[in-house]
Amino acid sequence: MRWIITGAAGMLGTDLVRLLNERDDDVLALTRDAVDITDPASVDELADADVVVNCAAYTAVDAAEEDEASAFAVNAVGPQLLARKAREIGARFVHVSTDYVFAGDSESPYGEYGPLAPASAYGRTKAAGEWAVRAETDDYLIIRTAWLYGEHGSCFPKTMARLSDKHPELSVVTDEIGQPTWAKDLADLVIRLVDAAAPAGIYHGTSSGQTNWHGFTKEIMAAYGKDPAIVGETTAAAFNRPAPRPAYSVLGHDSLDAIGVAPIGDWKQRWQEAAPAVLSELG
Ligand SMILES: NC(=O)c1ccc[n+]([C@@H]2O[C@H](COP(=O)([O-])OP(=O)(O)OC[C@H]3O[C@@H](n4cnc5c(N)ncnc54)[C@H](OP(=O)(O)O)[C@@H]3O)[C@@H](O)[C@H]2O)c1
Repeated sequence: MRWIITGAAGMLGTDLVRLLNERDDDVLALTRDAVDITDPASVDELADADVVVNCAAYTAVDAAEEDEASAFAVNAVGPQLLARKAREIGARFVHVSTDYVFAGDSESPYGEYGPLAPASAYGRTKAAGEWAVRAETDDYLIIRTAWLYGEHGSCFPKTMARLSDKHPELSVVTDEIGQPTWAKDLADLVIRLVDAAAPAGIYHGTSSGQTNWHGFTKEIMAAYGKDPAIVGETTAAAFNRPAPRPAYSVLGHDSLDAIGVAPIGDWKQRWQEAAPAVLSELG
């Protein structure tokens, strides 16, 4: 099986390339320097693949509010070009999306085919990317993830660990709920879906269960050898951020259940497994 991975130097891309190399698959790992997914000429050079996985994205949620055009180019036009090219060369197209495509005000888990209602520029551009992919190819897997952390690059657990080295107490929001998800687990799910020849469609690639950022930070402190009691509570209103954050980001896993592919597993158990690797290099 020959894989092409775009955005290969990002948090997810790095883990996906590493897992594929560990099992000796044929992998072409393309960083932004090699292929800019917004450049039609650059994308047009892609050839010879069974699967194209797009791990590239404009992920700066707050910056996107000021520069939606740049975010749209990477999150919508790029996936459109890649999906079209994948169809032309007869490859499956795997695209990674986000909980931000939903309104974030639900009280029960979002289904894969629930209505999209993004509340931020980033979410709008990612929703547009999903539509573009579905319009360009029938052979797509759209995998939505959320609250991603990993070994490569910056992420919430590393930030909180660093902050705890500087401050005796931390204040963390309780009114945003989600599913912390290890990039390595998501990379593994991408591979398992492709291996299973999963039917084209939308899948949710998040851990199971739910917590809020406060609850997650207590687990981060426990894994970092700090007293979880240093983590105090606050609310999102205390932060004046350009982009609204979803209050509720829990994604359901019905599509995985329907095809018998195991979901990632409980967020706390997965964090305990991930923590030594993720916290070993705080960057
Ligand atoms: N992180 C999260 O919490 C989270 C949550 C939900 C969904 N997601 C989604 O999960 C996916 C993977 O996210 P991630 O956290 O791994 O992102 P990431 O670490 O920010 O990696 C994204 C990669 O895309 C590259 N890139 C940006 N513009 C590009 C372009 N025009 N052409 C080619 N490459 C380009 C970036 O390169 P540069 O560094 O050079 O810009 C970077 O290496 C994305 O689709 C994201 O939307 C992430």
